[in-house]
Amino acid sequence: RPSRGSHPPICSSVQWGERLACFQSPPWQSAGPRRRDQGVRRDAQGACLPPSISSPSPTNTGVPFLFLEVSDGDEPGTANSDLRFHILSQAPAQPAPNLFQLEPQLGALALSPEGSTSLDQALEGPYQLLVQVKDMGDQASGHQTTANIVVSIVENTWAPPEPIHLAENLQVPYPHLIAQVHWSGGDVHYHLESQPSGPFDVNSEGNLYVSRELDRERQAEYLLQVRAQNPHGEDYTEALQLQVVVTDENDNAPICPQHDLPISIPELSPPGTEVTRLSAEDADAPGSPHAHVVYQLLNPEPEEDAEGGAFEVDPTSGSVTLGAAPLQAGQNILLQVLAADLAGAKGGLSSTCEVTVMIKDINDHAPEFTTSQIGPLSLPEDAEPGTLVATLTATDADIEPDFRLMDFAIVAGDVEGTFSLDWEPGTGQAQFRLRKKLSYETAPSHKLLVVVRSVVELVGPDPGPGSTATVMVLVERVSPPQLDQDSYEAGVRVSTPAGSLLLTIQPLVPMSSPLRFSLVNDSKGWLCIKEASGEVYTARSLQGAHPGDMYTVLVAVQHADERGPSASVPLVLHFLGTPPAPAPVPARHLCTPRQDQGVMVNGASGDPDPASGQGPYSFALGPDPTVQRDWHLQALNASHAYLSLALNWVEPQKHVIPVVVSRLDLKWQLLVQVAVCRCTVEGQCLRKVGRMKGMPTKQSALGILLGTLAAIGFILILIFTHLAMSRKKDLDQPVDSVPLKVVV
Ligand SMILES: *[C@@H]1O[C@H](CO)[C@@H](O)[C@H](O)[C@H]1NC(C)=O
Ligand SMILES: *[C@@H]1O[C@H](CO)[C@@H](O)[C@H](O)[C@H]1NC(C)=O
Repeated sequence: RPSRGSHPPICSSVQWGERLACFQSPPWQSAGPRRRDQGVRRDAQGACLPPSISSPSPTNTGVPFLFLEVSDGDEPGTANSDLRFHILSQAPAQPAPNLFQLEPQLGALALSPEGSTSLDQALEGPYQLLVQVKDMGDQASGHQTTANIVVSIVENTWAPPEPIHLAENLQVPYPHLIAQVHWSGGDVHYHLESQPSGPFDVNSEGNLYVSRELDRERQAEYLLQVRAQNPHGEDYTEALQLQVVVTDENDNAPICPQHDLPISIPELSPPGTEVTRLSAEDADAPGSPHAHVVYQLLNPEPEEDAEGGAFEVDPTSGSVTLGAAPLQAGQNILLQVLAADLAGAKGGLSSTCEVTVMIKDINDHAPEFTTSQIGPLSLPEDAEPGTLVATLTATDADIEPDFRLMDFAIVAGDVEGTFSLDWEPGTGQAQFRLRKKLSYETAPSHKLLVVVRSVVELVGPDPGPGSTATVMVLVERVSPPQLDQDSYEAGVRVSTPAGSLLLTIQPLVPMSSPLRFSLVNDSKGWLCIKEASGEVYTARSLQGAHPGDMYTVLVAVQHADERGPSASVPLVLHFLGTPPAPAPVPARHLCTPRQDQGVMVNGASGDPDPASGQGPYSFALGPDPTVQRDWHLQALNASHAYLSLALNWVEPQKHVIPVVVSRLDLKWQLLVQVAVCRCTVEGQCLRKVGRMKGMPTKQSALGILLGTLAAIGFILILIFTHLAMSRKKDLDQPVDSVPLKVVV
């Protein structure tokens, strides 16, 4: 029936309370069965059900709460001691006459089904039960005795306590009382089970103990079941459910996540890039301050200034992000972050989380040559293909070996493929080699543009000017110019005037590029050489030179561009005495105007060393321009030349024509006397040449004068006629007419 305020606090909210089964049994009167227990049993028995259980749950039907024990003096095991129990009467018989049942053979007193259902309407009690025990089993005969049992209906105190909150790590003497349960009926044995099993126990008074410290982190909650049982281990009623909640103590420091491997972050990552999120675990109660972890950067020490440091840590989330300060590729940074619980308040626990951050290189640097201009390098023309010309060195500011790999290439200036580049990957050095034979004539110099590029694609800005370099190669001639002789000799008369051509020094084969000649040690200053032609002249009169002396000077020859080696050859001058006056050449005559005739010149005459042979001789007209204009000298054979008029008209008179004859290194001059005269049709001189030898007579002088005047007049007529005609004529007038103007 509904409770009435006198229930224990624990049952105050319970709608249904039962009074049940207190009983009193007077002493057994008979000599037969004897009362087991002398005391009055006053224990209340009842169930206080949780609110959720709507049906009353009294002491369970049929669960004995009293065992009548009697003794019989007869032989045990025989019919004489075979006892039977009966309830003879119940008073009062309200609300039902049979609230109790007595197990006939065992004498176990329990509520009957009627008792169970109608106990809430039962009187406060006590109920008087008259019970009988008799021997001889079920036979009608036998000894019997009776007893009074008084059963009181008492308040049910079997109510579960509030959940027990028990601090972990509790420092108290153990076992420590944590709660009390009470079955108000009699003869009770408490039994406790823990789910999961825990250090809990209950004693015979219903005191619940915990026997040692608890650890919330191991087990935060236990569900205890306490049973009230009769001596036979049967539950009087349903077990009490008792919740034990282990309350948290801040006994766990935050535990940092394990980072075995360094965290790799590419360089140039923007500020704010998340490096890692620490999220330290705190085993204490989630959501409690004990598990409220905050983070603080310890290392690298946060910068105080506005720029900020390289890393930032969000105190709440533990997110580590990159700060504004730049990081270098290849850096390994040990991050130390303090993770503290109690939101960082004093007295909390903390751990230092360590994370190694590795700044990963990216290919943001282009390789660059250490020098942008290589050379000019000289390379001999005969250098073998494969010759190492230069070693180009390039550097790359990246760290990652892959990003330092570079390719080299010649991009300009090597159309013919004369050069090559080869390199070992990763060395940063390329060998600039010759691949083909050089030729000075085709290319005296090479200007090549080489580039170096990163093998892996570059991130960021394009390569700067440092990625190109210029290689200048100058081709060097290896051999000096070759001359037509190993040494030169010339015979020179000591009387040779300044400016006389002595000889010409010539290359062996005509050179495509100009040569330059010079005298090395002309200490006397007698000679000069024409730089370009190699003609050697006397620079001044050969004063101090004696016939028979020798004078050796070295002539140096070089390519005019001064590239390549120079050669020097000795030039030996043999000084000769003044030649005897040339033997008069037999007088001859040539006709003017010109006829088809000439004069033989014998080279052997005047040879200063006739013994050494008859030639071959070479002939040249003397340097006098008039002679060169008027005369024509033609070599006939090895020993003779043929001298003839070059102009149509030459003054008829006796001419002395200098002819330079040379043999080997010897040179001398012949003076060839030629008489030029006007001729008869037969080619005979009009005048005897022989007369000209002597002094002219007065008559002949006058004759000559008149003749001369006549001749002049004739010439003037010729000239004027000629001039008059030439004005009308084309420009293709005969060449031999021009010098006549000069003569006049
Ligand atoms: C010039 O040098 C050559 C070779 O050394 C030498 O024989 C010659 O005597 C020198 N000539 C003069 C004038 O010093
Ligand atoms: C060269 O020619 C001249 C004139 O014809 C002659 O007298 C002379 O014997 C010739 N000399 C030689 C070597 O043939």
